[in-house]
Amino acid sequence: MPPPSRINLGLRPLCRDNPWPEFDYGEIEPFEFSLDSGGHAGRELIVDVIRARNIDLMLEVGCFLCGSALQWLRTSDTLTVIGADPWEGNWGTYFESLSRDPVRARAMNRWTEEQIATMVHNLRRFGNFSIALNNVRQYKTRFIPVRRRAPEVFYYLRDRRIEPKLIYIDADKKREDLDVARELFPNAVLCGDDWLWADNSGVLRMQEHVKAFAGEHNYTIKASRQTWLLIAPEFEPAKSDDAVV
Ligand SMILES: C[S@@+](CC[C@H](N)C(=O)[O-])C[C@H]1O[C@@H](n2cnc3c(N)ncnc32)[C@H](O)[C@@H]1O
Repeated sequence: MPPPSRINLGLRPLCRDNPWPEFDYGEIEPFEFSLDSGGHAGRELIVDVIRARNIDLMLEVGCFLCGSALQWLRTSDTLTVIGADPWEGNWGTYFESLSRDPVRARAMNRWTEEQIATMVHNLRRFGNFSIALNNVRQYKTRFIPVRRRAPEVFYYLRDRRIEPKLIYIDADKKREDLDVARELFPNAVLCGDDWLWADNSGVLRMQEHVKAFAGEHNYTIKASRQTWLLIAPEFEPAKSDDAVV
């Protein structure tokens, strides 16, 4: 349960209605895994903005195994993360295939084959939701899992009068997510992943959406590797070596 100072934000009923899965959290080792180019995804842009704007409530859309959520939670002791993801299906086979992919396996170099086999086994046995939450078990008071998809989750939170101050989108690369997030939470910082993600025809799909959206609403884009951040007109564009597009 979040500390009392947060109850006014409507987070207590949100926690009640979106409980953590029943799981023996002492039973298996948590692990930290992110699809973040081995720590080179440019996420320091997000860390910096969480600190600079004292963000105390953010929504992450697309949490997977909660590797990025861990990064945000460590950034500030006063930050609560609402994590939206359906956590459906089973990622055991996918996780195993990543470990055999020559590029992506780099993120797994720190583990032995035996450790990876155990993670795969645990994913198959306990399922995505329990394993993902086990990975953030240290932050049980500050991570609220919501098993819903964007854009529906934006309406769900708005109807509960919960207003995230930052929305990080790392999901299925839809323009609609940007439009609905802005319409319902006009004051939220919008940012996300997949800046350099190309679809089968080579189109940088999320980058195209973000550029068109930014142009229509007069945002400045700051991008670093896979990460993008929209700076609203009322904020001065930050000056740094990162690309301002
Ligand atoms: C690339 S992974 C997220 C990785 C995670 N942010 C990290 O860095 O560790 C994408 C995730 O988005 C979730 N997802 C896909 N479509 C979604 C949607 N419309 N709303 C919420 N989550 C979605 C998937 O279930 C998956 O877990």
